[in-house]
Amino acid sequence: MRIIRARDAADASRKTANIISAQVILKPDCVLGLATGSSPIDTYRQLIRWYEKGDLDFAKTRTVNLDEYVGLSPDHPQSYAYFMNTNFFDHINIDKANTHLPNGLDADAEHQCSNYDALIRGLGGVDLQLLGIGNNGHIGFNEPDEAFIKGTHCVDLTENTIQANSRFFESIDEVPRQAYTMGILDIVQAKRVVMIVTGAHKAQILKDAFEGPVTPKVPASIMQLHPDFTLVADEAALSLMENLG
Ligand code: F6R
Repeated sequence: MRIIRARDAADASRKTANIISAQVILKPDCVLGLATGSSPIDTYRQLIRWYEKGDLDFAKTRTVNLDEYVGLSPDHPQSYAYFMNTNFFDHINIDKANTHLPNGLDADAEHQCSNYDALIRGLGGVDLQLLGIGNNGHIGFNEPDEAFIKGTHCVDLTENTIQANSRFFESIDEVPRQAYTMGILDIVQAKRVVMIVTGAHKAQILKDAFEGPVTPKVPASIMQLHPDFTLVADEAALSLMENLG
């Protein structure tokens, strides 16, 4: 794995945007695997700025997102579809027909999950997957578990995740209890993976994930084995890491 050390969150976002930008320039019809959450927001803002300057063209780019809450429609303000539209897709020249997220309104989990895996395969796989990391080491919504779950699946969110995500909802009762998420194999099969992590509150989990053993109890730890994995993190997030390469 490669560690790119950033001064702060703004620097980490610019560096991450540079990596994504290079991917889009090298392969305009690439498949980007995208994430929601706080971590990538400034990366998307930077990519929008470069698009507005005429430096980037997303006309042929395809995207697949990691996850979506079960039960939320794409126009629900807390759905990940809504997040992606308002934070990124509405501001660039991407064809919305080329942007994909699991359908949170599909109550048939088995159907939705096998469809999503087939969709990713049909697109030829992910060229570059962007990830954040949860406080408990989750990637996508692959929560700590006894085994790595391979394909897209429906998860019961842990209390830790419900608590962390309640900041976006009026009350904790409104946070959906389930989500559809790409599986670990879907993520590991991406040709290149970039994870952005910032802030001192992520320092311990970053150390556990990348200086500890590879274990489904810390799902992000699997990325230690990926042949093209880049961690972009700021000083605060890296503060407990001993081996910075
Ligand atoms: C988002 C996702 C999650 C987040 C993680 C970190 O699509 O899949 O795994 O990347 O929860 O969230 P933030 O960036 O808000 O700390």
